Amino acid sequence: MSSTYTTVLLPGDGIGPEVTASAMDTLHSMATAFGFIVETEEHTAGGAAIDACNDPMPDTVIKACRAADAVFLGAVGGPAWDHHTGDMRPESGLLKLRRELGVFANLRPVAVPDSLASASPLRENTVRGTDMLVVRELTGGIYFGEPKGRTGDRAFNTMTYTTAEVERIARVAFTWAQRRRNRVMSVDKANVLVVSQLWRDVVANLHAKEFSTVELDHMYVDNAAMQLVLNPGQFDVIVTGNLFGDILSDAAATLGGSLGLLPSASVGGTSAVFEPVHGSAPDIAGQDKANPIAAILSVSMMLDEWGEGDAAAALREAVSDVLATGARTEDLWHEGYEAVGTREMTARICHAAVEKT
Ligand code: IPM
Ligand code: MN
Repeated sequence: MSSTYTTVLLPGDGIGPEVTASAMDTLHSMATAFGFIVETEEHTAGGAAIDACNDPMPDTVIKACRAADAVFLGAVGGPAWDHHTGDMRPESGLLKLRRELGVFANLRPVAVPDSLASASPLRENTVRGTDMLVVRELTGGIYFGEPKGRTGDRAFNTMTYTTAEVERIARVAFTWAQRRRNRVMSVDKANVLVVSQLWRDVVANLHAKEFSTVELDHMYVDNAAMQLVLNPGQFDVIVTGNLFGDILSDAAATLGGSLGLLPSASVGGTSAVFEPVHGSAPDIAGQDKANPIAAILSVSMMLDEWGEGDAAAALREAVSDVLATGARTEDLWHEGYEAVGTREMTARICHAAVEKT
């Protein structure tokens, strides 16, 4: 009997609906080709949900997400809702989803395929071979710390971590390192922040107790930002807190020439969330210009999570193959390459992936 997987789709705002459609075309092609069944159910989220029901992440949507095997999210936010504050911002809907599902581990793989090394804003020989996994803590730190507030001319947030929170994210990082090149770089700001001093102690203790065969180093976040640009090839797994991970993963993503390539999986909770890391890009929304690759690679992470490893690998290879033919969406296009839109890029990747069955 074929396995059946249920997925809640949250297309969201801007280019979110377009890249979600690409992701679902791909997912359904893989289901047919590899013999599994996918059932999807769509809900509004972010700005679209504010417009529809005055709430960026209604409790009914959270409930549907909890019941599904996976959640696929496009992107949230845009200028139409920029004047909103606090809980009425599209972004706080996303934060609520992460918190309510308890997806504390955000995995952001950054690999630069050889065919894209020349598209990098850095020198080709600097980025060639880049292959790292950013493991970002996602449900704690300064994003959620209390107290926070704004009164008169003062505003404040709190960066806080407990031993248990650091230990569980570090465990995810060490475990991934064992499946990769066996190296972890823990990034903090322990020269200034006491919360980082705890972070560093906990990571080092867990390493000594359970993962001493993994190579562990520590780096301050300012230096890490510089090292990502100077010598990205030195990194295998990076583990860091919520805010530092947000910043460093955008920087890392652009090594391949575009944020439009970076997928993510948020795991460790009741159901996992898969989303492209790029935002809603309202300036190009609805024009068939968005790069669908981040969304499609997020589908591949979802397939891996479900144990459909062959389908996941076929999809990843199909992406490399199609890029190697010279097809490029606008974000990556330059002279000598073939310009294709979102839908055409998606169709070619689906075709190439299905050929691999
Ligand atoms: C990301 C985004 C989100 C974050 C925003 C939209 C809340 O930038 O997933 O990286 O800051 O986590
Ligand atoms: Mn971000």
